[in-house]
Amino acid sequence: MSAIIARKSLVWIAVSCWLFVFSNCSCSDRPSKKEWKIGFSQCVGSDEWRKTMLAEMKRELSFHNNLKLLFRDADASSEKQVTQIQELFDQHVDLLIVTPNEARPLTPIIEKVFESGIPVVIVDRKIDSKKYTAFIGASNFEVGQDAGLYAASILKGKGNIIEMAGLPAGASPAIDRHKGFMDAISHYPGLNYVRKVDNLQKEEEALRTISDLDLVYAQNDPMARDTYNLCKKLGIEKRIKIIGIDGLPIKDGGLDMVANKYISATVLYPTGGQEAILTAVKILEGRSFEKDNQLSTTIIDSTNIRITRLQNEKVLAQQMDIDRRQQKIEEQEMIRRNQNKIIFAISISLALALIMGGVLFYYLRENKKINVRLGIQNVEISDQRNQLIDLGKMVKDATDAKFNFFTNISHELRTPLTLILGPLEDAVASPKLPFSAKLQLEMVKKNAMRLLRLVNQLMDFRKIEEARMTLRASENDISEFVLEIAGAFSETARKKKIAYRVDPAEKGLNAWFDVNMLDKILFNILSNAFKYTNEHGSIDVSVCKDAEGRHVIIKIKDSGIGMGPETLQHAFDLFYQGNEGAYKGTGLGLALSKELITLHHGSISIQSEKWKGATFEIRLPLGREHLQDAELKGAPTPYQLNYEDAKIYTSEAESLKPLSSNDLAITGKDQSILLIEDNPEIRMFIKSHLSKSYEVIEAENGNLGLHLAYESVPDIIISDVLLPGKDGMHITETLKNDIRTSHIPIIILTARGSMEQQIEGLKVNADAYIVKPFNIQYLEESIRSLLKNREVLKGIIPVSCPKTASPTLRRKRLTGSSSMNLLLLSRAILPMRILA
Ligand code: FRU
Repeated sequence: MSAIIARKSLVWIAVSCWLFVFSNCSCSDRPSKKEWKIGFSQCVGSDEWRKTMLAEMKRELSFHNNLKLLFRDADASSEKQVTQIQELFDQHVDLLIVTPNEARPLTPIIEKVFESGIPVVIVDRKIDSKKYTAFIGASNFEVGQDAGLYAASILKGKGNIIEMAGLPAGASPAIDRHKGFMDAISHYPGLNYVRKVDNLQKEEEALRTISDLDLVYAQNDPMARDTYNLCKKLGIEKRIKIIGIDGLPIKDGGLDMVANKYISATVLYPTGGQEAILTAVKILEGRSFEKDNQLSTTIIDSTNIRITRLQNEKVLAQQMDIDRRQQKIEEQEMIRRNQNKIIFAISISLALALIMGGVLFYYLRENKKINVRLGIQNVEISDQRNQLIDLGKMVKDATDAKFNFFTNISHELRTPLTLILGPLEDAVASPKLPFSAKLQLEMVKKNAMRLLRLVNQLMDFRKIEEARMTLRASENDISEFVLEIAGAFSETARKKKIAYRVDPAEKGLNAWFDVNMLDKILFNILSNAFKYTNEHGSIDVSVCKDAEGRHVIIKIKDSGIGMGPETLQHAFDLFYQGNEGAYKGTGLGLALSKELITLHHGSISIQSEKWKGATFEIRLPLGREHLQDAELKGAPTPYQLNYEDAKIYTSEAESLKPLSSNDLAITGKDQSILLIEDNPEIRMFIKSHLSKSYEVIEAENGNLGLHLAYESVPDIIISDVLLPGKDGMHITETLKNDIRTSHIPIIILTARGSMEQQIEGLKVNADAYIVKPFNIQYLEESIRSLLKNREVLKGIIPVSCPKTASPTLRRKRLTGSSSMNLLLLSRAILPMRILA
């Protein structure tokens, strides 16, 4: 079917092409006829006789539309005419028609043109050479003869005559007309040729002076008219007979003058315009022609003027008719040309439309084929897509299964980890434990807690993924919050000699956040900063509002190893560990932090370059408009720093190099003292005395002191009361109320010596209260005494639970509450208070 249609369209294209060719052919005007350029050099173009000649030429030219006439008027100047003929020659005319102003000056240029091969047709006046192609014109000698014979006839062979000769002297008509006239009158001895005048002034003079003048022979009709006017002026117009030449049938022309009896006769002198063109066409078309074409003349006088005028009028009417028809033909020709153009344009459009139609049809068919192919491909693609969906589902199921597996494993790990950590804490807290073993166990404990934290993070992540974790925001002072958490890293900073600046630019800046989430976020990012910042580096923590006051910005800037672009791009990707060995974590911490910040409707970003540190910027929206009711649950909760978590994070931030037996043997001292004192001199003083016998751990503020108490679980604590951060009373109360540290003896060392203050100290269960200034030996003895009592206590209640011990006590030890029992026993047996 489509093949038939294709064939049909091809036929159409062929037809249209034929139409195109046909219309193209019909558009061209007689393409076989060559275009000819005819140059026409007229000696003078202004008089009526020559205007008539040009009109005749044009009329004839209108029948030959392949001829183009280049007309030049020399204004009766032979010199100018020579130049104009040269120009026509230079324009490569195909034929030259020339009426030479004068014979001699024009002869060379005409010969040159002729000799170059260009046909030359001479009209009216002759040249002094035979080097021309054809001549058209009446015989001026005969014209002169006719005039002479007529003069003799009307004067009846007797009378006085003058000749009016105004034509250029070198022009052949001037010469021949005179000769012919003289020849004719020479046969009549009674005719007296008085003289020849060549201008009006001389003529007037002759008319005035020659009283018996009978006839004026004017060489053309314009001169005959002038003669008549002169005679009229002199009042002799009735007496003087005038003969003219030309016989133009125009208004005031020769015929009119004869009809009006102004002149006696005029000799018809045809212009030869039509004949010149006809001869030129013959020459150009290579047809035979006559070289010398003599036009006939006749005398027109009162006897034949009527018939001549009638004939002329008829001829003029015919000519006008011809002109009208010619004009009509031209109009028709124009219409035909326009129609041809329109047909041509239509044909082209039709041909183009058909070609386009063909092309369109071809493309439609191709399109159809493509559509079929696409349809098949579509089916294949949708099959593949379905396969991919199935695969994706399988992958998701597999991932879910993997996550579930991780979650389940994590869940399973939590119980054993808790069961490891419980007894471990007991063991670490045991006063009998040698210091070296204690350090080892601390290490075990730290790593167990780290493991627990990882497990917790993993489970947190699952909760977020399953949308089970929701924000529980409360309004808190975020500056203080950051300060507190950042404070937990002071000791790490000190140990790593890191310049650590915490700058809460705005104090008392309240924000809505989930304390438990934000502490995870901050611990994560801070421990990261400490982990990747080398010794003597710097870490800056700042809290401030943004410029619009709509967000709080927490910035943590470190001078650490930084991240390359690749690591930076994936820093928050889950399980992404980076390809830069140095910056390698579990891939959990930052991912979880980001999720937690997203739950806060906040954002986190990192700016970092390799080896140029990193800046973490957390932005949290201020106010509570962005929070749903479900996210605002719970009353504002005062935050309690989870020191155990802090310990994991901070210790993680420190060097992760495990302690070796060498490390443990460094001190050789079995007992440790935590000295919390902000005055560096007092600290140095006490340390210098105690460090001989004890491992002295220093803390310059309360927060650090509390942190180190949990971290190192010392054998004894000496604490000042007034401290930056948590004060001594608070530390004592916290530690004594915590089963993990309640067994540690605490000595309050203070300048606050009033009885009320001392009682306050005892109320928080301090073991001793020493007022400054104090005696260092006294302090040493107090320490020794407290430690000895502790040893005694250990001896009374052995570490291994005896079978005699009560079942309750045994159960408590197994569940990790032994330190509380120790404390209770210590209280019962050693109610010792040292007051200085
Ligand atoms: C026109 C004219 C005619 C005359 C012819 C001779 O210029 O003077 O009157 O017959 O030229 O060349």
